[in-house]
Amino acid sequence: MANISSTTLILVDLLLCVSAAMAARTKLPAAAGENFSICKSMVETQGYICQEHNVTTPDGYIIGLQRISAAKNKITNYPPVLLQHGIFADAVSWILGSPDESLAFKLADDGFDVWLANTRGTLSSKGHISLTPKDPAYWEWSWDELAAYDLPTFVGYVNNQTGQKLHYVGHSLGTLTALSAFSHGKLLNMLRSAAMLSPIAYLGQMSSLLGRTIAELFLAENLYVIGVREFIPKANDVGKLLDVACSKLGISCSNLLTLFTGPNCCVKTSTIDALLQHEPQPTATKNMMHLVQMVRRGTITKFNYNNIAQNLKHYEQATPPKYNMRSIPKNFPLLLSYGGKDTLSDVNDMQVLLDDLRDHDADKLVIQYREEYAHLDFIMGTNANRIVFDPLIAFFKLH
Ligand SMILES: *[C@@H]1O[C@H](CO)[C@@H](O)[C@H](O)[C@H]1NC(C)=O
Ligand SMILES: *[C@@H]1O[C@H](CO)[C@@H](O)[C@H](O)[C@H]1NC(C)=O
Ligand SMILES: *[C@@H]1O[C@H](CO)[C@@H](O)[C@H](O)[C@H]1NC(C)=O
Repeated sequence: MANISSTTLILVDLLLCVSAAMAARTKLPAAAGENFSICKSMVETQGYICQEHNVTTPDGYIIGLQRISAAKNKITNYPPVLLQHGIFADAVSWILGSPDESLAFKLADDGFDVWLANTRGTLSSKGHISLTPKDPAYWEWSWDELAAYDLPTFVGYVNNQTGQKLHYVGHSLGTLTALSAFSHGKLLNMLRSAAMLSPIAYLGQMSSLLGRTIAELFLAENLYVIGVREFIPKANDVGKLLDVACSKLGISCSNLLTLFTGPNCCVKTSTIDALLQHEPQPTATKNMMHLVQMVRRGTITKFNYNNIAQNLKHYEQATPPKYNMRSIPKNFPLLLSYGGKDTLSDVNDMQVLLDDLRDHDADKLVIQYREEYAHLDFIMGTNANRIVFDPLIAFFKLH
């Protein structure tokens, strides 16, 4: 395309740089290999019982779930809890630390029947009834579809398998999809409670430097226009671009994670290394476009086609329908945990959400604020066990 600005091309370099930095840090053959199994490589090795499950969404995506329990417990009749990861991640993000430092293991130790979801397009969820990830159509979705299809499929499946209502834990994008579904009254009949870590409903004041840059330079839109439907492709071939692109931009690639998430106070270097062996997982360019619309407009609506005819076709109205956070039922038990240094779940955006929830039943809403925490501390911080997980488990046991 002739009219793609040179700035955009530099930004494409920058993203390749992110991918390359992440891919180049360390190579873990198992993580890249087709036969990588989260259960075999990362759960059974820690002494837990693990099952792999597949479930198909109404729009044909075959999604992988892992089910974990402590060896002493066996998988039967314990309260189920579903963990939904954020963007560029997968279920691995819940099990990177020692059993003591990882929410999934900690919940299993405490007698929960733990289910890990993997969003469409990630390592455990690349299947589809008729498409492959090489097909552009495979990536034609945003978080609207994650909220409308993936999440109800996961929750419905676990509900069916266990015959019990679930607790839900979301991180980052996993809170946006759940809050949006809740605002439409969805899922609630199958859930007991939900804990939102680094909650995201609004992004208008998001301070993530990398996020802002992507938004301001219309990077996702430009990639979409040139036909790139899978965002942040695997970067095996771009290792050499790393030095060139990063030095051209005057950016240290090793700090890009921080530029994206904010300065994580409490995540060990070894945990970051383990994270970068698996992430970034790809997402849809359209999903990025949707998030960027939220950054620019400060609102929370369905994907805007920026075209009245297209909006009419999809929504029977000229503008995309809003998700109204004030419609979340006031008696649904909610825990929100947010941090002062989190640049994706920014404190100012959090205030807008908290204002929406101001009439929530006081005994059904727990709000935690950690001044020193950034985006990843909530799930990988060395002290998250005491600061986040213990209160979260106590909250689940109340509901
Ligand atoms: C994956 O598993 C299949 C069947 O077990 C095997 O044929 C194939 O070689 C494996 N691939 C890798 C990369 O290990
Ligand atoms: C899940 O589906 C994938 C293909 O999408 C397949 O490779 C895998 O073996 C399936 N796993 C289970 C447990 O059925
Ligand atoms: C759960 O079970 C109901 C009733 O059998 C079925 O209609 C539904 O499709 C199941 N949901 C999932 C996600 O498996």
